[in-house]
Amino acid sequence: MDAKQRYSDLKQLLTEHSHNYYVLDNPQISDGEYDRLFQELLGIEEQQPEWVTADSPSQRVGGEALDSFEQVEHRIPMLSLENAFSDQDLYDFEDRLKRYLLLEDDSLTYMAEPKLDGLAVELVYENGILIQGSTRGNGKVGENITAQLRTIPSIPLRLLQTNIPRIEVRGEVFMSRSGLEKLNRQRAEAGEDLFANPRNAAAGSLRQLDPAITAKRPLEFFVYAVSDPQASGCTSQQELFIFLAELGFPVNKHIRFCAEIKSAITRFAELATLRHDLSYEIDGMVVKVDDFSLQNRLGVKARAPRWAIACKFPAIQATTTINEVVFQVGRTGAVTPVAILEPVDVGGVIVSRATLHNADEILRKDLRLGDTVLIQRAGDVIPEIVKALPEKRDGEVKSIPFPDFCPVCSHPLQKLEEEVVTRCVNPHCPAQRQQTMVHFCSKAGLDIEGLGKKSVEQLFALGLIRDLPDIFLLKKEDVENLDGWGQKSAENMLRGIAAAKTPPLARFLAALGIRYVGEVTATLLEDTFQSLEKLLQVSKDVLIEVDGLGEQAAASIVEYFSDPAVQKMFSQFTDAGVVPQIAEKKTENQLLTGEVLLFTGSLKKLSRSEAKKLVKEHGGQIASGITKKLTCLVVGEKPGSKLKKAEEKGKKILTEDEFLDLLSISSVKE
Ligand code: IVH
Repeated sequence: MDAKQRYSDLKQLLTEHSHNYYVLDNPQISDGEYDRLFQELLGIEEQQPEWVTADSPSQRVGGEALDSFEQVEHRIPMLSLENAFSDQDLYDFEDRLKRYLLLEDDSLTYMAEPKLDGLAVELVYENGILIQGSTRGNGKVGENITAQLRTIPSIPLRLLQTNIPRIEVRGEVFMSRSGLEKLNRQRAEAGEDLFANPRNAAAGSLRQLDPAITAKRPLEFFVYAVSDPQASGCTSQQELFIFLAELGFPVNKHIRFCAEIKSAITRFAELATLRHDLSYEIDGMVVKVDDFSLQNRLGVKARAPRWAIACKFPAIQATTTINEVVFQVGRTGAVTPVAILEPVDVGGVIVSRATLHNADEILRKDLRLGDTVLIQRAGDVIPEIVKALPEKRDGEVKSIPFPDFCPVCSHPLQKLEEEVVTRCVNPHCPAQRQQTMVHFCSKAGLDIEGLGKKSVEQLFALGLIRDLPDIFLLKKEDVENLDGWGQKSAENMLRGIAAAKTPPLARFLAALGIRYVGEVTATLLEDTFQSLEKLLQVSKDVLIEVDGLGEQAAASIVEYFSDPAVQKMFSQFTDAGVVPQIAEKKTENQLLTGEVLLFTGSLKKLSRSEAKKLVKEHGGQIASGITKKLTCLVVGEKPGSKLKKAEEKGKKILTEDEFLDLLSISSVKE
């Protein structure tokens, strides 16, 4: 047999045996035999380096160390999940689904999957070959960690079927309990910091610029989704898992089909017991609507899909004492008391701080300095104090006075009657400016590489950045000799800043930290106005007309943009070369582009929410009433006065069926 044929056979054989061993947990040959084949492969590759392909089993270990992680945009955003904390939350979840889909029967079925406590990643395969792997990042943009992911033995480098042009799969990289223990033992011996939990260990191991280090970490992987279920050829999550297993992906064996929501609740109780016997940590269970066409109808709300929910295991509690209380000033001026605790292990995580939320909360819980308290941590939620244990007081406790003046700028604090928060209302308060900058550079903002919280606080404290535009004027020599910096990190930061000069407008708006303007509202503003200049001059009357924008947000936006200091800041942004980009609106297939619709009366086939979602998906807008802008009224049963008004104004009128026909939709219930 010629050497090339032998080489290709060896790759095939080793891929199959590695799949048997790591994915199916069912080895067919001895370790010695595997090693022998592997050595033979390496021998051929040494002779014929030009034959080596990306899917060769030898390519798991190697790879050059990187200088920094490249950013990758996910073609389809990686979402997060809403949480459920009780059985009732799951019943409510089903009620919402039924209302949205106008279902009266109990036909909804689900998949219940253990919620792995690790790091979400995306793997892209073209013609069966792994070509890219990335972290979730902020959901839209993650980091390219292909070389690091290649080192994980249960991630296929080549699929068992190679006839699929492209598939993007998603899943969790995690570390087993024993893997983490072993790693922490080694770290303790080497005098290095220990990882507090498997998630940090997985993240820390994947974010190694040198993949050779990642290769030494005991990482594992389970698949749980594809980016575009409709394109997978499967009709349900259940089918998808079968398909993904056939492709060679590891599928968790504790996943169950549930014919009703009640079965999912039962399964949750089972998992709550089972979790202790698993070799890896899970922090809950994910429930997903099984049927893909229903998932598609339900769609996405803000950052999470409507069709899935994460049920979290009950919080883990511990007792400790309050040593001190500090007061932090956030970017909106809100003053938050934070308890400094005697460090304590809460379910494997060392907790030394807990939020006390606000002044009322301290009074309500009657907390004192020196108190013994019960604290709890639920998943990744910030630890909080459940209650004081006054029976443990020994006379040494002191009350916790709330300051009257800002701990940072000494401006008098203000507490409005209707609000629970106490605020520093000094617009020039350095703490607010500092936190605004931290937010601007953070993942929720422009996600500027090299400008994490600590670095921004450092540069701010040194006076190197006073206002947001200053960030874009930073130079290498400003930072490279500072504590914790070097030439490389300075260069990384500059690259990050350069990349941040052309952010999508919505992202830029959300980064500014305008009150009530998060990602969702920012996207709405970009879609509606398509220009920063227009926003700088917008009036409240115009904003109120925007469907989906609340009155508070409208007021806050107008107040923000009309502030002369803000106007000046924007001209500084421009001078510094910052040019927010406007995403091109999709025009193909947009049947309702330019149309402004309104629904009235009771619809029989669609819920109002689904109807509105359909309008937006087809490029249309929703009117707030029978306004001048309205182009078409869709009429259900018992329409009321709106129909008459619209007719008088000569607006186009459609029935629910005509509306569905227009969009060629026939799959909703008959
Ligand atoms: S589905 C819309 N399934 O939970 C789909 N996520 O908050 C979103 N996770 O970042 C993910 N196990 O890392 C899904 N079986 C599972 C999961 C799972 C763990 C994590 C995932 C994600 C987070 C969602």
